[in-house]
Amino acid sequence: MSWKEKLIIALDVSDAKQALGIVDMLGDYAGVFKVGFELFVSAGPKVVEEIHKKDKKVFLDLKFHDIPNTVSKAAVAAARLGVYMFNVHTSGGLEMMKRCRDSVAELCLKENIQKPKIIGVTALTSLDNEILKNELCIQHSLKTHVKHLASLALKSGLDGVVASPHEISMIKQHCGKEFLVVIPGIRPSWVPPDDQRRTATPKEALRSGADYIVMGRGILKQEDPIKALELISLEILTA
Ligand code: C5P
Repeated sequence: MSWKEKLIIALDVSDAKQALGIVDMLGDYAGVFKVGFELFVSAGPKVVEEIHKKDKKVFLDLKFHDIPNTVSKAAVAAARLGVYMFNVHTSGGLEMMKRCRDSVAELCLKENIQKPKIIGVTALTSLDNEILKNELCIQHSLKTHVKHLASLALKSGLDGVVASPHEISMIKQHCGKEFLVVIPGIRPSWVPPDDQRRTATPKEALRSGADYIVMGRGILKQEDPIKALELISLEILTA
């Protein structure tokens, strides 16, 4: 799998036309395009259909977090949209994740739909140890917290987790090589971290074993996104 197939570009815009323009511009550079809150709330499921018409895969990043019944129904709707991947918050608990997985598996079998990858969000990459302790009152370290949530996702039968670049090897060691790790918080060396706190460069994340890296501002906020991608590619491919 080439590194470009592992690249997920975050379509963090509010306008479908702009999003589809990005897909056209960067279609040859990325395997998957991510539709998150901003785009989905503004443009609705139609934008997902439009991306599919361009033969591109979609990661629906709506981070479902609700009671098991509500999440499993939202998950079924996501699977019916034909997305490649979607996510739920692991902190919704074991039953929520299991019911989500079971409902999706049942639907896909019944309606002959390709089963989407279900990914659990562990701790957001905008959190650090201080926030965890002082704001969320979680007394153990971020690493311990992420390890625990990743184990819960594994136990629930999810396909993998979203975590920070700093936790990749720990998750692979603990949950096995096949358990997917999807990594945001990616910043090329020449781009500021913005609101992300646990970051790494694309090369560092891929070297640590990331199955997918998610990039938004590190590409789309650059003056020339294609040039930025070529620089990143050069950095990754040089030893
Ligand atoms: O612009 P940037 O590369 O920081 O964007 C990262 C993307 O990944 C955003 O769309 C954000 O919502 C998403 N994301 C994240 N941290 C997570 C899960 C998703 O940054 N834990």
